[in-house]
Amino acid sequence: MEIANLIVDGAVEFSPLEGENSRVVAIVAETAADIVSREALLDDAMGPMRRKKSSEKLRRGRRPSEGLAFVARDASGAVMGTVRLWDVRLGEGGASALLLGPLAVDPSLKNAGIGSALMRHAVAEAARLGHAAILLVGDAPYYGRFGFSAARTGALAMPGPYERHRLLALELVEGALDGASGTLKAAGRRLKAQASTLAA
Ligand SMILES: CC(C)(COP(=O)(O)OP(=O)(O)OC[C@H]1O[C@@H](n2cnc3c(N)ncnc32)[C@H](O)[C@@H]1OP(=O)(O)O)[C@@H](O)C(=O)NCCC(=O)NCCS
Repeated sequence: MEIANLIVDGAVEFSPLEGENSRVVAIVAETAADIVSREALLDDAMGPMRRKKSSEKLRRGRRPSEGLAFVARDASGAVMGTVRLWDVRLGEGGASALLLGPLAVDPSLKNAGIGSALMRHAVAEAARLGHAAILLVGDAPYYGRFGFSAARTGALAMPGPYERHRLLALELVEGALDGASGTLKAAGRRLKAQASTLAA
């Protein structure tokens, strides 16, 4: 249950739980010190098969888009949620866009509004930074509430197995996906070799 939203130094801060379990969660930029906790959270929330997803092909060996990696942190500093966005191209030589994911919340804090807060902050920051569209592979019943749908993705494809109806998009600039077609290509800044195992 989300109680309040306020902006503090560019971070969204809110109290998702009531009563004894009440704690403030802030949505902030991810730092290098968060990587180990973020990876453990992703393993807990999504299991080991997460690395087999076709989205991983677009993320592996790359850095997230500049300024678009966020964590939800509680008052003790613990990482309770994560979301990142990645630079992609829509088809060979196609327009630039972002791929969102993975989005995950600590399983002990599900349905407390943390996923929604991460999504709203990520979309708002992507728009503020001038990006035109965000794509993701996920459940339409969840991501629909943030404006994502499969309406504009029929001519687009992921570089690996995926369910077509789960390829969703949100235009941040109206018409950004007009005529978009082809297979998504990784376009992000490359990681240095030694960092790629941890951050991939
Ligand atoms: C999906 C996930 C990120 C949602 O985060 P959250 O903080 O638990 O979600 P929120 O509190 O913001 O939203 C809860 C609402 O979303 C709904 N919801 C959650 N997952 C859903 C799904 N897969 N499909 C439809 N609705 C979903 C809940 O039923 C709840 O509905 P309500 O508002 O009507 O009560 C989180 O549950 C999670 O980490 N899941 C495992 C990892 C995963 O599947 N990630 C998405 C793929 S990248």
